[in-house]
Amino acid sequence: MCGIVGYVGHREAYSIIIKGLKRLEYRGYDSAGIALLNGNLNVYKKKGKVSDLEEFLGEDKHFLNSTIGMGHTRWATHGEPNDVNAHPHYSSNKDLAIIHNGIIENYSSLKMDLTLRGHVFLSDTDSEVFIHLIDDIRINNNCSLEEAVRVALSQVVGAYAIVIIAKDTPNQLIAARKGSPLVIGLGKNEFFIASDASPIIEYTNEVVYLNDQEVAIIKDNLLTIKNIEDVQMTPYIQKLELELEAIEKGGYEHFMLKEIMEQPKSILDCMRGRVDSVRGHLVLGGLNEYLYKLINAERIMIVACGTSWHAGLVAEYIFEEFTRIPVEVDYASEFRYRNPVVREGDVLIAISQSGETADTLAAIELAKSKGAVIIGVCNVVGSSIARASHAGAYLHAGPEIGVASTKAFTAQVTVLTMIALQVAHKKGSISDHLFRILLAEIESIPDKVSTVLKLNEKIKYISSIYKDAKNVLYLGRGYNFPVALEGALKLKEISYIHAEGYPAAEMKHGPIALIDKEMPVVVIATKDSSYEKVVSNIQEVRARKGQVIAIVTEGDTQVAKMADYTLEVPATHEALMPIVAVVPLQLLSYHISVMRGCNVDQPRNLAKSVTVE
Ligand code: F6R
Repeated sequence: MCGIVGYVGHREAYSIIIKGLKRLEYRGYDSAGIALLNGNLNVYKKKGKVSDLEEFLGEDKHFLNSTIGMGHTRWATHGEPNDVNAHPHYSSNKDLAIIHNGIIENYSSLKMDLTLRGHVFLSDTDSEVFIHLIDDIRINNNCSLEEAVRVALSQVVGAYAIVIIAKDTPNQLIAARKGSPLVIGLGKNEFFIASDASPIIEYTNEVVYLNDQEVAIIKDNLLTIKNIEDVQMTPYIQKLELELEAIEKGGYEHFMLKEIMEQPKSILDCMRGRVDSVRGHLVLGGLNEYLYKLINAERIMIVACGTSWHAGLVAEYIFEEFTRIPVEVDYASEFRYRNPVVREGDVLIAISQSGETADTLAAIELAKSKGAVIIGVCNVVGSSIARASHAGAYLHAGPEIGVASTKAFTAQVTVLTMIALQVAHKKGSISDHLFRILLAEIESIPDKVSTVLKLNEKIKYISSIYKDAKNVLYLGRGYNFPVALEGALKLKEISYIHAEGYPAAEMKHGPIALIDKEMPVVVIATKDSSYEKVVSNIQEVRARKGQVIAIVTEGDTQVAKMADYTLEVPATHEALMPIVAVVPLQLLSYHISVMRGCNVDQPRNLAKSVTVE
């Protein structure tokens, strides 16, 4: 939530910042703003997207000679999206400016205090309080900006990634983080700051990920990192492995379509070097040290949010079936506040594409404090959740930029399946024969997903028929129940059509009342252990004149006779079917969204990385 970019060096800052903000727009697009230092400290900001800011600034870019500045793209929390609430925010005398990602929880008491001391606030944001607090400390204690920032950080409660710029120090940017990500790019006589590496990658591949409660001072071509107790830290410089093409649309109209279409590759990438069915090999390097904890766990807890939670539900079925270890799946936001029973030796698997989701991070911290071992399943390398975990497995699915998660889901299920099979094999809860069969089946999934993608035109046609639906029901059973949830989430988040996912058998306990001739029902009816029962559920829908769009296994003739439309997917083991069966649902939601004229990659009110609770 909210994207941050900063630059100081020898190049013209404006273009670097604007380009960086466009890359980070997936994090929020309620407003955009920029601060540039060139003798004066000038702030320009506008409600809407980065392109609205550019339009507002017009042709006359008199600030193009500035070589230091920062920019922000906002996902609103405190204060409606408008020009005033847009970042950056000035201090009272306009000597300082701040950009902030996160939430300052005690902002109202701080604001009251600062108001009594004469500070005048222009916006409704918590972020503006931050800069007034820093300014107040700086003036009253007659201290340096760096010191004032450190003192202010010890007074604020909440999450933040901030960058501060000051009029009187033309070669200095100060940045700090707690709970919201921040990465610093190290160029030749230049530095970049950003919420993720995408604005940095074309300039340098050397980066430092700031840790929680660290302050970075970039001054006169030097980077110093201190903790908030003023102890100097040694920066850990990492090499980025990100390719520029991975964060560009590559000829597709939308990132979402690109990410759906690249799933054969992203799934292959996440199993590359890990699976070898011929030799009966399955290796997940990042897990090795803690594998015995999983093997000996009395139970496994899984926490995640949204689509990642759906992947967690699939994992519950897979783990229980193959490892016979009891599994509980929680929304991270519920887990963290419900005083869960966590015992020493329990294992918690945290699933997160971004690795920055605030609720998932908080659930990890809670479980850790009670002695659980944390296994992270993240896509973003070096992310907060990856770093907070004892061990884990990356997805290696490449950057996911479309706000609606697609390739991350299929990669998550692939990686979680690999983890479950490794545990089951080592534990002896599955035979070597079944282990090898399942490994071969995993290896065949990229080709099967390629086959499903060939349905694109047919799905487009079906989308044109149902694009004006008001409600859509998604039904699935067993392994396909989470797929129904995921299909419904995809549709509602990008096309704004109300959709519900249900276990097919639950329909008769309530939702069946909704079914009439206006109601499309998407049923995942692939050939598995619940197939016959799902067929009966389809009959129940037909009997009430509901329209059926069915995902079926290739060669199925039974459902084809009952459904209005069928989409045939290749057969696979039922535990792996979610990876295959979800793909047509992703395409269905994509095409419906496009046909309804919605903003597919940046749906309203959403942001890619939810770093606030
Ligand atoms: C839906 C979607 C969200 C995320 C959720 C968790 O398409 O993208 O529901 O899945 O916000 O995000 P991560 O996986 O980054 O923790």
